[in-house]
Amino acid sequence: MKIGIIGSGNVGSVTGLSFLLKGHFVQFQDINKEQLEKVKDIVRNYGNFDYLVTTDLLEVVKECDVVFECLPTENDENGFIDLSILEYVVDKISCYEEQCGCKVFVQRSTCIPGTALKMSKKFKKIKYAVNPSFLIMKKKFEDAISPKKVVIGVLDDLAKNIMKDLYAGWNNVVIVNNFTLVELAKYAENCLQSTLISYWNEIYEISKKIGISSREFLDVLNIVSLTSDLASSIRIPGMAFGGACLPKDLQAFINFTKVDLNITPLVLDAVLNVNNIFKNKYGVRSDSSVDLYDVKNGRIVIKLEKVGYHGE
Ligand SMILES: NC(=O)c1ccc[n+]([C@@H]2O[C@H](COP(=O)([O-])OP(=O)(O)OC[C@H]3O[C@@H](n4cnc5c(N)ncnc54)[C@H](O)[C@@H]3O)[C@@H](O)[C@H]2O)c1
Repeated sequence: MKIGIIGSGNVGSVTGLSFLLKGHFVQFQDINKEQLEKVKDIVRNYGNFDYLVTTDLLEVVKECDVVFECLPTENDENGFIDLSILEYVVDKISCYEEQCGCKVFVQRSTCIPGTALKMSKKFKKIKYAVNPSFLIMKKKFEDAISPKKVVIGVLDDLAKNIMKDLYAGWNNVVIVNNFTLVELAKYAENCLQSTLISYWNEIYEISKKIGISSREFLDVLNIVSLTSDLASSIRIPGMAFGGACLPKDLQAFINFTKVDLNITPLVLDAVLNVNNIFKNKYGVRSDSSVDLYDVKNGRIVIKLEKVGYHGE
């Protein structure tokens, strides 16, 4: 198939790469020429492939069968998701729909529930699908090339069949007849990660007060891990979650539930507050932070031979 990528940054570049490795033709688009040079370097590392790069949005939607948008969905200064770039791109494509070879437009960015239903109405002919990226920045190549799951929301058979063909042979492909459910699943996962990090940071702080060292704290995590997978998110005990996604998505989701749904999410509010406390005390972990703990054969282990973490 001919696959188009609109917005070839972190997610777009590796999404395109994953399809190149499956034998598809890929056209990468971005407004930033330097980013397209980075895409060429990434692809070159994996071999010789049939692909193009361009800054021309319409070229991509004219030529490609399936177009994935991987555009930024940052928050505005008040912590609400800013969908203006996605909206601009969808509006522009919809004006040239008659000239488009594109059959399915795929929303890959993380977008507040309800976005796809609204955006899809702008197209008359092109079908819409939701297929969020669950990659973690630190493992972006591994997570994109061999994702643990592929989750797709569609509302019609054409999009369903095309997406099914595209992802034939991939692991754990889940296709549901609902856009909003898939959008929610992405936030549910990110907010759960944030919750677990804040939770374990708090337990870590308690453990220190009662004389348990960072090394002994591993035993606590591993006892919990014997019957659940809920302890592995603590990679750097004490440090607040940061990086490109968790703080932005938690804040946007809280604002969405409060303003759009008129629900006060007490747990998520607390997660954010706890994170701010740990940010002030221990700092923020970033996408490039080195983990102190690692998971090996289902056990949480010290990754760095670092004694005296946080003054112990
Ligand atoms: N980074 C992550 O770990 C991660 C993981 C999962 C999901 N996501 C989500 O994926 C989406 C993209 O994130 P990212 O990290 O790849 O962002 P990014 O900033 O790395 O990439 C976005 C790219 O879009 C380009 N762009 C901006 N405006 C454009 C336009 N009008 N037309 C074409 N290109 C344009 C930018 O130049 C940039 O290269 C976001 O919704 C994010 O929340 C990110």
